[in-house]
Amino acid sequence: MSLKATAKAPANLAFVKYWGKKDVDLRLPTNNSISVNLSNATTITTVEFDTTTKDDQLFVDSKILESGSEFSSRVFHHIDRMRNMAGIMQKAIVHTHNTFPTGVGIASSASGFAALTVATSSALGLTLSEKDLSEMARLGSGSACRSIPNGFCEWIASDAKNHSYAIQIAPPEHWDICIVTVVVSKQIKQLSSTSGHSLAVASPFFKTRLESLPKRLDTVRSAILNRDFKTFGRETELEAISFHSIAMTSPIQTDHGWMSGAYYWLPDSLELMLAVQQWRSDGLEVYFTLDAGPSVHLICINNDLDQVINAVEEIEGRSRKDRKWDIMVNKPAQGAYIITDQAYD
Ligand code: PMV
Repeated sequence: MSLKATAKAPANLAFVKYWGKKDVDLRLPTNNSISVNLSNATTITTVEFDTTTKDDQLFVDSKILESGSEFSSRVFHHIDRMRNMAGIMQKAIVHTHNTFPTGVGIASSASGFAALTVATSSALGLTLSEKDLSEMARLGSGSACRSIPNGFCEWIASDAKNHSYAIQIAPPEHWDICIVTVVVSKQIKQLSSTSGHSLAVASPFFKTRLESLPKRLDTVRSAILNRDFKTFGRETELEAISFHSIAMTSPIQTDHGWMSGAYYWLPDSLELMLAVQQWRSDGLEVYFTLDAGPSVHLICINNDLDQVINAVEEIEGRSRKDRKWDIMVNKPAQGAYIITDQAYD
């Protein structure tokens, strides 16, 4: 019997961010978070268990990764969790491919670990519920738990039984919003989100942020359910700045020296953020959010999509004719699922 499966999973964009962990090893967050799955930022992963292979192998874009690398160790540690559950100790051959750039503020670890979880559990014949898959994906990468259910999701930091997983708030077709992701730079971010989570508590503003989040979560959740775009957009933009304020005020000691905080955005990101404020005052209803990277995610309703893209392209060439940003349009999407036509043999 072939123990093999392929899964596809979306990255997700948080409207209320996960930033800070209560338990580092279990990736338990300090707060609930709310996100949507992105239709055009996906990972496809094939996992095959093989009796003839002596070592686990990981291929990224068909190139084998060194076995001791940090990323491959994290991947195989995650597979071990499911191998132990299934009682199957065969070595794994993993092929994975992203449809978007990594390390630039689009959650590649979310799509990556969601696809890995769904493909591995299926290849091993485990029958896990959506909640179990979400909890399992969380152990690989926190925000990956939100890439399991379909559409708009909320990650419950801890339920009555101390479980932590994501649930659906609304299906993808609930609301016709667009997320125009502008990749202003492919330069890798200065601090990983894993390190950022640990440092967050050192910010003098972290406690205030945590206190403000229950109300914000209610506001964003209701705005999604009521399709109240203005409230949703304003709260989402305020939240992005709240999260970045924490990152910018959490001091970091690295091998290269001391930094007073992490600046995930770049001058181009800021130029776009300021442009969004101008577009709004000109009557175009668009809001921004940024994750732990320089990419700016512009949120608008479908009817305004062309206008938003035109506005971005106009800014792109304004200060430097040769400037080239990647623009990716995303719609709310379904969560991780098994695909039958194998991407890799
Ligand atoms: O799951 P991680 O460790 O990559 O953390 C994600 C952190 C943010 O993208 C900044 C916020 C979020 O909730 O996705």
